[in-house]
Amino acid sequence: MGKLDGKVAIVTGAASGIGLETAERFLKEGAKVTFTDVNQEKGQALAAKLGDQALFLTQDVSSEDGWINVVQTTLDHFGGLDILVNNAGVPPTTVSIEQVALSQFKHVIDVNLVGTFLGIKHAMLYMKEHHGGSIVNISSMGGIVGIATAADYNASKGGVRLMTKGAALDAAYGKYGVRVNSVHPGYIKTGMLPPEAEDMMAKTTPLGHIGQPTDIASACVYLASDDASFVTGTELIVDGGFTAQ
Ligand SMILES: NC(=O)c1ccc[n+]([C@@H]2O[C@H](COP(=O)([O-])OP(=O)(O)OC[C@H]3O[C@@H](n4cnc5c(N)ncnc54)[C@H](O)[C@@H]3O)[C@@H](O)[C@H]2O)c1
Repeated sequence: MGKLDGKVAIVTGAASGIGLETAERFLKEGAKVTFTDVNQEKGQALAAKLGDQALFLTQDVSSEDGWINVVQTTLDHFGGLDILVNNAGVPPTTVSIEQVALSQFKHVIDVNLVGTFLGIKHAMLYMKEHHGGSIVNISSMGGIVGIATAADYNASKGGVRLMTKGAALDAAYGKYGVRVNSVHPGYIKTGMLPPEAEDMMAKTTPLGHIGQPTDIASACVYLASDDASFVTGTELIVDGGFTAQ
């Protein structure tokens, strides 16, 4: 028996890295999964591989119309919605804050923070009415501590961290049965990290190595499952000890 048997999930940014690993783990745990990404080519290639319990939809998470379409299509295709993982994200601009163009700052905020807001909003509208659901927002250790040349990313991920707590309380006080939590990855080996920085990242991580997408997928399975039925508004840090320093 899988931990997510009979549940329907949406995972965004799932054409690669943490999102893809999470979508695959959810399928193994018995869920039906709508996986979305702005990268249509990669997503469609994966759809052929993942089978008929997975549905790929092209989505830019910063578009509200896009979210309305993704939620409605999931309801039509799979008959419900129990889990949302707001995972889609873009990296920092990687220059000192005074060098960040307003358009670059707004792009990071639009994808990482506004995209997560829209996902919570449109999933919550359905989940509250149907009295149940789990929303998992992928923040970052950069939502907890500052990182040089990543102030735009810090702003977006810190916003996700506190928005998660506010949304969790909105759902909790109304006794809607909807839980909202955030996950805070440390350095995880995906296309988002520059390979030449891996040694430095491993050395600055107390456990001595960087993480793998499966480390974050495991946290998502836990928070999405009924094992976490008393867990809401929490921040689950999965960073090899980085923020404990
Ligand atoms: N890799 C790390 O070290 C690390 C650390 C902390 C947090 N995170 C977070 O984990 C999440 C996943 O990142 P990853 O490391 O797997 O990187 P990744 O680049 O492999 O995956 C990100 C995915 O998001 C998609 N995406 C980008 N903009 C989008 C948009 N507007 N709409 C929809 N999809 C979009 C990309 O196409 C890509 O498939 C991100 O939110 C990231 O900030 C990653």
